[in-house]
Amino acid sequence: MSKQKNNIVVIGAGYVGLVSGTCFSEFGANVIVADRDKDKIRKLQNGNIPIYEPGLQELVNKNMQSGNLTFKVNYSEYINNSDALFIAVGTPSRRGDGHADLKYVYEVAEEIATNIEKKILIVNKSTVPVGSARKVGGIIKKINSNTEFSVASNPEFLREGSAIEDFMNPDRVIIGVDDEYSEAIMRDLYRPITEKNIPLMFTDPESAELIKYASNAFLATKISFINEISSVCEKTGANVEEVSKGMGYDSRIGDQFLKAGPGYGGSCFPKDTLALVRIAEEHDLNIGVVKAAITANENQKKRMVNKITDALDGSIAEKRIGILGLTFKPETDDMRDSPSITIIKELIKEGAEIIAHDPHGLEEARNLLPDEVKLVESNSEAVIDADGLVLMTEWSEYLNIELEQFKSKMRGDAFIDLRNFLDKEKLESYGFRYFSVGK
Ligand code: UDX
Ligand code: UDX
Repeated sequence: MSKQKNNIVVIGAGYVGLVSGTCFSEFGANVIVADRDKDKIRKLQNGNIPIYEPGLQELVNKNMQSGNLTFKVNYSEYINNSDALFIAVGTPSRRGDGHADLKYVYEVAEEIATNIEKKILIVNKSTVPVGSARKVGGIIKKINSNTEFSVASNPEFLREGSAIEDFMNPDRVIIGVDDEYSEAIMRDLYRPITEKNIPLMFTDPESAELIKYASNAFLATKISFINEISSVCEKTGANVEEVSKGMGYDSRIGDQFLKAGPGYGGSCFPKDTLALVRIAEEHDLNIGVVKAAITANENQKKRMVNKITDALDGSIAEKRIGILGLTFKPETDDMRDSPSITIIKELIKEGAEIIAHDPHGLEEARNLLPDEVKLVESNSEAVIDADGLVLMTEWSEYLNIELEQFKSKMRGDAFIDLRNFLDKEKLESYGFRYFSVGK
């Protein structure tokens, strides 16, 4: 007999909620993705994806057509015929103190509490501080003391730009539960994952919540580590790409997340490292390693401004600088905490004129960059009369730029490659002075 399909509601149609909901519908569940942003939901109901994420458009279309993926603004009426409710709303850094702001999570918990009439599983998918599952449970219990429910933690490890792949083929799924009832529902939802022999790790909710923060903070620390090593390389004549390659052969270190660059950005590392430090401080703990990773990341961005200044003969006042790439990484339109924002603001403060290009980030960039920044639709426009070019994000289209044409359009000859993305010899053969990170 075919198994009754799971009905789930995913609340929050951001990167995490939209990708999770779509992938769960691909796994065979009946999914409603809800978001209070009417405009976002209307776009989704018309089949338009509000974010750039490779492969997502096709998956949404397919599952909307098969009827097991729908988008709604209000979700209360669907709660009581659901097996599980996933909370995937934003948990931004709280203004001022850097704590994860859980107000949206708590609002959703209250909404659920006032509507549940039968036993149900509530799952925190958002990145939330240790103890949040218990807090969500407490909020619901206080409002609705006569309906049974369970709360689980199921943090997401997807990377923007490879979100579908990361959800469909994760290294592991982490699930924090308190009871068999929750475990049974989660096993059912993730059956397609277990069928690929990918481990589902069941643990307690607190450990699941901390696994998420600790994983992100460790990855951010790895990046800050290699970025600091890149500064040592520049002084000692070593080559940071060789150093990270040599380190990476050691299976205890691993060769991932050892690429030097302008510093990490995005909606996660900057927010989650700070939140983890705050969680520790709440318990009078000083976790210096994560704090140092945050400081090293800020220092790396400052080092990039100095690198650009040095490459332009010690002063960028009145200089025109072309920027290639603005997003925090390629294959996304996300500009949240992108290193380009801090670096460009500093360059402008020191009197530079900035013309910037990005293949997908221009719309997001407009309201995050100073008005003085001229944004251009094609990379070749960013080079006109430029004294120097800065490659900020390693979009693949920059591998095919017309170097001869670019050089002839420029006023100067400096090419500062903050991602070590292009080939030094090739750039120099076209008359560029090539600068990189850690080499
Ligand atoms: C974010 C954080 O980056 C991630 O660490 C956390 O785990 C989940 O939230 P993301 O998907 O990028 O992930 O969030 P965001 O793009 O900010 O989208 C959150 C969505 O929730 C928005 O579309 C917002 O409209 C919606 N939302 C927010 C609600 O539907 N209801 C609310 O009460 C608050
Ligand atoms: C990250 C985590 O990887 C993911 O597991 C979690 O769910 C969300 O946060 P994301 O922020 O989307 O994902 O991007 P990621 O690919 O991790 O890159 C984060 C930042 O680190 C980017 O700015 C990237 O440019 C930078 N980075 C990454 C480096 O500078 N060097 C590296 O070697 C890797």
